[in-house]
Amino acid sequence: MQNSAVRKPPSEQLDLFDSTPEADPEPVPRGACRYDEMIGYGARMREIFDLIERVADCDSTILIHGETGTGKGLIARAIHRQSRRREKPFIAINCGAIPENLLESELFGHVKGAFTGATANKPGKFELADGGTVFLDEIGDMSPDLQVKVLKVLEEGEFEPVGGSKTIRVDVRILAATHRDLSEEVQKGKFREDLFYRLYVIPLSLPPLRERREDIPYLVDYFINQANCKNRRTVEGIDEEALERLKRHAWPGNVRELKNLIERLIVLKGSGRIGLGDLPSDLLGRPRSSASPPVIELTEEGICLNSAVTEFEKALILQSLEKTQWVKNKAAKLLHLNRTTLVEKIKRHRLTPSGAIDADED
Ligand SMILES: Nc1ncnc2c1ncn2[C@@H]1O[C@H](COP(=O)(O)OP(=O)(O)OP(=O)(O)O)[C@@H](O)[C@H]1O
Ligand SMILES: [Mg+2]
Repeated sequence: MQNSAVRKPPSEQLDLFDSTPEADPEPVPRGACRYDEMIGYGARMREIFDLIERVADCDSTILIHGETGTGKGLIARAIHRQSRRREKPFIAINCGAIPENLLESELFGHVKGAFTGATANKPGKFELADGGTVFLDEIGDMSPDLQVKVLKVLEEGEFEPVGGSKTIRVDVRILAATHRDLSEEVQKGKFREDLFYRLYVIPLSLPPLRERREDIPYLVDYFINQANCKNRRTVEGIDEEALERLKRHAWPGNVRELKNLIERLIVLKGSGRIGLGDLPSDLLGRPRSSASPPVIELTEEGICLNSAVTEFEKALILQSLEKTQWVKNKAAKLLHLNRTTLVEKIKRHRLTPSGAIDADED
């Protein structure tokens, strides 16, 4: 692991990187910590890099949990690359993106004639990854029937292809990731408890970017350099106030959202420094609307604190709903609430997608 001394935020420095761009196309911002393709600075990411270092070389199952865009895929690759299996295949499969009937054959393979269109024997991902690592991404989306088969691979290292009776033995390490709270899914009866405990040998939880804002300056530097190289641009850095704004943003799409924003800014700017005026309007604060929290000034006659707080709550809820196109799960996450609490509040404030109805019911 590369780990350099603590330093001032990168934007305050002229010499930003530990190595020259000629020497390394993706240099690490000075003071940051790099693990494989990941950059971190604060204690949370350093702890994660330490944990990977300690567990990469064993064969235990690792369950990676984190919101979208927090780097679950990068972590899985890093673990494989640090393990004794690094010369063997790393095969990732997104369990949420493939229809259930196809997923079984993708994972376990099928024999000729197993179903219409199965014109030849086809090996599945587990067989292809023999000796290496299988990364089951979005495992929380897998059906209970398939969960049973995966459990068997984990416990006995064997399975039968679709339509076949011959048992195939494999030596694979399984890594899994999910954005769901799997223990909650177990409670709801949607995820098998036995598989949950079998996967939960080493849990690794990636914090959302808004909980590790200290990493933002370093990620910004890293992505500026990456986007400059990729797009043949020469942007030199970012102004302090623009960086401050980035540090305050909620980042619902986490590191992916930050990376994509920086790439957009670099391509559009081309050269010079990114300033506050270059940031998109949702980062600068939108023009005032019903969804903007009211600015409240305390006058001589005083103010009713309860109604002011109600107004403030209503505006923030509306803002989160607008930001997430009224997807309540996402809006609840932005407000650190659970979904049912948010739904109750939406009802209480009588909020609708077409606009807030001002009068409260209670
Ligand atoms: N710590 C990091 N340092 C550098 N780049 C990062 C870091 N974390 C994430 N990224 C980048 O952010 C993007 C999203 O990462 P990744 O695909 O691993 O997230 P994810 O958690 O798997 O997301 P999803 O749940 O949507 O699949 C990638 O382009 C990745 O390279
Ligand atoms: Mg992913």
